Amino acid sequence: MTIVTCIFLATLGLIFNPSSAQLSLDFYENSCTPLPDIVHDIMRATLNRNPRMGASILQLFFHDCFVNGCDASILLDDTDFFIGEKSTPPNKDSARGFELIDTIKSEVERFCPETVSCADILALAAREAVALLGGPFFEIGLGRRDSLVASFNSVAGQIPSPSFNLPQLIASFEAKGLDYRDLVILSGAHTIGRARCLRFRNHIYNDTNVDPDFADSVKVLCPINDNDDENLPLDFQTADLFDNLYYVNLINRRALLHSDQELYNYGTPVDRLVELYASDMDAFFGDFADSMVRMSSMNPLTGFRGEIRRDCRRVNFLG
Ligand code: HEM
Ligand SMILES: *[C@@H]1O[C@H](CO)[C@@H](O)[C@H](O)[C@H]1NC(C)=O
Repeated sequence: MTIVTCIFLATLGLIFNPSSAQLSLDFYENSCTPLPDIVHDIMRATLNRNPRMGASILQLFFHDCFVNGCDASILLDDTDFFIGEKSTPPNKDSARGFELIDTIKSEVERFCPETVSCADILALAAREAVALLGGPFFEIGLGRRDSLVASFNSVAGQIPSPSFNLPQLIASFEAKGLDYRDLVILSGAHTIGRARCLRFRNHIYNDTNVDPDFADSVKVLCPINDNDDENLPLDFQTADLFDNLYYVNLINRRALLHSDQELYNYGTPVDRLVELYASDMDAFFGDFADSMVRMSSMNPLTGFRGEIRRDCRRVNFLG
């Protein structure tokens, strides 16, 4: 091998080695200065009318990141070439907010055409959702690129199910390089948003670690054979406020989802973390920000991988 070939191959290695590619806080500072303001203003106007949309965007971001990293694959519509992620069990009838991302993307394209990825727009929108609903504001690295494909099958087993027990939940986070602390902290996202009766009926009717008065009140709204798609707040105390009452609910056995109550059930160090966040909102906010940054930077597409989509629903190749 000549020395020139060696240098060439070494350079290729640098360019294509994903671990050498980093997200950066100022990625669009010169190429799209108004980006953070555009996302902030549209999110604020939307949440003023409909606060739940903040929860829906946060969940959308989680479901994007847990399937091949935060690459906006969840935003792709089905095509003749592939069936995407939208119709998979964890997303069907559950993933919401696609039109809002379209609205933000169109406005961003007006100011900075073909510059900002849909993956970064979703990350910024999720960051704004948390802050606008009363949670922490945090800086988030940018420079993610958009996937060229999505696949129905790639979702299987990646997104944890509400019927999971604690070891299964921990395993699903560890598979993404996140630990049990991240699990407890990021589950705190359930301080906002709604879930449908069919996702928690089994917990309310059959589990024994449920406060009986709480169970009774939920059963009224979710009868045994009716109202599958009725939406109830994940945090029944402050449904649209990003606070730490989710953890207080867990201690009182008033979690809506089986998976949530699993985080306070066994007297392990996981319970101690729940108690910490229930009593110390600042600790929760600081750790939530850190865990969000960790989740948002798992395995990003950077450099020459992926593309900057013009339309978040379609890869550029398809027009
Ligand atoms: C730990 C495992 C998790 C499980 C088993 C889980 C499960 C669920 C389920 C079943 C729903 C209701 C879906 C429906 O009824 O359509 C839901 C909603 C939601 N999840 Fe999770 N989730 C988990 C973690 C997370 C994480 C890490 C985040 C974000 C950081 C998150 C954010 C949300 C939000 C904000 C909603 C409400 C969405 C809305 O109101 O539109 N979840 N989750
Ligand atoms: C409660 O458990 C039984 C036995 O596993 C099951 O058949 C039933 O569907 C469960 N009830 C609910 C509301 O999920």
